[in-house]
Amino acid sequence: MYLLFILKAFYFALPAYLANMSPVIFDKLGLFKFLKIPIDFGKKLHNKPILGKGKTWRGLILGILVAMAAAEIQKYLFGYAQFEQISVVNFASVNYALFGFLAGAGALLGDMVKSFIKRRVGIASGRPWPVFDQLDFICGFMLFTYFIAKPDIPTIIAVFVITLILHPLTNIIGYALKFKKVWW
Ligand code: CTP
Ligand code: MG
Repeated sequence: MYLLFILKAFYFALPAYLANMSPVIFDKLGLFKFLKIPIDFGKKLHNKPILGKGKTWRGLILGILVAMAAAEIQKYLFGYAQFEQISVVNFASVNYALFGFLAGAGALLGDMVKSFIKRRVGIASGRPWPVFDQLDFICGFMLFTYFIAKPDIPTIIAVFVITLILHPLTNIIGYALKFKKVWW
C-alpha cells in the first residue's frame, strides 16, 4: 500500500527527474554542442552573471524534449492497468504533450530561477546551495503541472521527500560514473 503510494509519487515526477538529469548527460556525452550557449549569453547584472555558464540553451531545450518523450511513454503505458494504477495524471483526459512540456519547462525554469537567485546572493556557478539545489526543479514542476495533473497533498509531500532522498543519491552515482565533476 505504502509502496504503491511512493511508486505513484515517483512515477508522477519521473518526467521532471529525467528533464533535470538530461543536461548533465548531454554535456558529458558532448551531444548537440551547437546549442551549448549560455541562456544569459554571458551577460552580467551588477557585475555578477545573470544565470551563469551552467545554464545553457541545450539544457533547457533538450530537458523539455526529454520530459515530453517521457510523458509520451507514460501515456502509452497508461493503456495497461498496472501503469494506470500508479499514474497520477489521467492520460485519458490530459494531453500528454502538454503535460510533458509543462513538466520539462517547469523543471528547467525552476532550476533557472534558483540559479538567478543564487547569483544574486553571490554563490558561484556550480557551488552548492543545499536544499535549493535539490528542490528547485521539483518546485517548478509542481507549479507548472498542478492544474492539469491535480495531485493530492500527500502525493505532493511524497514527491518532495522522495526528491530530497533521491537527488543526493543520483548525484553521488553521477559523480562515481564521472558524469558530474562534483558530488553534490
Ligand atoms: N545544464 C545546462 N543547462 C541547463 C541546466 C543545466 O547545460 N539549463 C548543465 C550544465 O552543464 C551544468 C550541469 O548541467 O553545469 C549541472 O546543472 P546544475 O547543477 O543545475 O548547474 P550548476 O552548474 O550547478 O550551476 P548553478 O550554480 O547555477 O546551479
Ligand atoms: Mg548545481
